[in-house]
Amino acid sequence: MTNDEILLNTLDYVRQELQDDSSGHDWWHVRRVWRNAVAICEREGADRFVVELAALLHDLDDWKLDPSADGRPVRAEAWLARMGVDAQVIGAVCSIITHLSFKGAGVENRIDTLEGRIVQDADRLDAIGAVGIGRAFAYGGHKGRAMHDPDEPPRFHATFEDYKNSRGTTVNHFHEKLLLLKERMNTGTAKRIAEARHAYMEDFLEQFMKEWDGLDV
Ligand code: ADP
Ligand code: NI
Repeated sequence: MTNDEILLNTLDYVRQELQDDSSGHDWWHVRRVWRNAVAICEREGADRFVVELAALLHDLDDWKLDPSADGRPVRAEAWLARMGVDAQVIGAVCSIITHLSFKGAGVENRIDTLEGRIVQDADRLDAIGAVGIGRAFAYGGHKGRAMHDPDEPPRFHATFEDYKNSRGTTVNHFHEKLLLLKERMNTGTAKRIAEARHAYMEDFLEQFMKEWDGLDV
């Protein structure tokens, strides 16, 4: 199979698998991450095959969808083996997927390859801006969380365990994660894109708080 055929098959497979997800890990999220990753990759000059595979497969084994998977990308790995992908490429892709996701404000999760940094940036870009706001409220609704509670301050999660078990409001999620992402972008390309998306979220929160207390009425 050529690399292009493997990518096309992978795209079809992931689209099927994540079609009905309502927790923010649907196929359209993957499509945005994949397209952003390709665009960043072209500017930053990394191995495009690894970047595309990791972007397409990055949410297939997410701990929030399958808590038993324990962060190991078992389904992604099995799929790549089925496609006859080189062991070295499988290793690179699975390592990226394992290290990708945000694990709490105080938990370091830096990735040590350019390909990994690009996919991580692309995934983080989709958590901020207008789409990020939409995803946060969709996720909060899916989990039955309150939008906002003025009596509940945001928390700084020092461990992954702590972050994983948190049941905070969606507005707190902005302070606990989304507003921190701009500073954590790896590549110059993503940092530039993040500026505008970050400013948009700040404006949104300011307006949200005004409306919450009826200050604009
Ligand atoms: P990603 O796919 O970007 O790694 P996550 O898997 O952490 O993101 O979460 C998926 C989406 O759900 C993201 O947009 C994220 O901001 C949102 N989300 C995650 N946890 C919460 C939460 N506690 N409250 C609101 N939104 C959340
Ligand atoms: Ni994702």
